[in-house]
Amino acid sequence: MQTVLIVGATGNIGASAIHAALRSKLHVLAIVRNQASAEKLFRNVGTREGITTVEADIMSDRGVKDVVEKVRKGELPTFQHVYAAAGGLFETTSILDLTTEELRKHMQVNFEPNLFAYQATIPYLLEQGDPTSTWTLCTGASGDNGGRAAASMTQGALYSMANAACLDNADTNVRFNEIYLGLFVMVDAAADQFGAMKASKFAVAYEQILARPDIKGCRVMVCQPEDLTELRFRKKLDVVQS
Ligand SMILES: NC(=O)c1ccc[n+]([C@@H]2O[C@H](COP(=O)([O-])OP(=O)(O)OC[C@H]3O[C@@H](n4cnc5c(N)ncnc54)[C@H](OP(=O)(O)O)[C@@H]3O)[C@@H](O)[C@H]2O)c1
Repeated sequence: MQTVLIVGATGNIGASAIHAALRSKLHVLAIVRNQASAEKLFRNVGTREGITTVEADIMSDRGVKDVVEKVRKGELPTFQHVYAAAGGLFETTSILDLTTEELRKHMQVNFEPNLFAYQATIPYLLEQGDPTSTWTLCTGASGDNGGRAAASMTQGALYSMANAACLDNADTNVRFNEIYLGLFVMVDAAADQFGAMKASKFAVAYEQILARPDIKGCRVMVCQPEDLTELRFRKKLDVVQS
């Protein structure tokens, strides 16, 4: 059975990735901050079945590297897929009022752990050479709409990271894709109360990415519920160059 390593696994989007992985009959290796986070994760997805948790500090550039070391030593399951959705900081401070400290905090929480996860896991996936490997990054449309300045700028950085990763993996065994999310998604138990889409519903996008080898180097756009019925995707670098 294949395994998906999930960074940001305890959040709304992480929950959606777990639903998708389990429905795709894949095992989950979820990185958590601590045991309390692990319990939150199990509540978020309503099961413990098929999920291995491991504690690591995803904010440090060593955190996910240490997890990969444990995988190499056989202490954790080998993985073929990675999903990154760390972040969640969305302060309302305007661009003029933004302090250096706030700006750095947003980059630290919303951008850096996703980059560190990429740097830690891609060498392993390349080495393993599994032809079905995937790497998926969730970004938010807030990077284009300009609201919430600091969060918006972190999404811009993630779009650029995705461009570079699509280019770097164009000829590798890893199908890198970006899911560009223009909807509000929350864990199932909270979604209705806040008028958000349920994580288990948004999971369809990742299920399709996992199942479709033709989706490689793409931005998959999920901006309305219908986008989950017929997936909208386009080669990432074509978008940049057109
Ligand atoms: N939800 C949406 O509607 C939406 C829409 C568009 C884009 N996105 C994208 O998805 C990302 C995540 O959104 P989300 O709604 O899933 O956020 P979330 O529910 O707040 O989850 C964020 C994840 O990052 C982890 N994290 C945050 N700060 C951390 C820290 N200091 N140390 C360790 N772990 C930390 C959280 O761990 P803990 O649980 O331990 O705190 C959690 O796993 C966003 O930043 C954005 O790029 C989300």
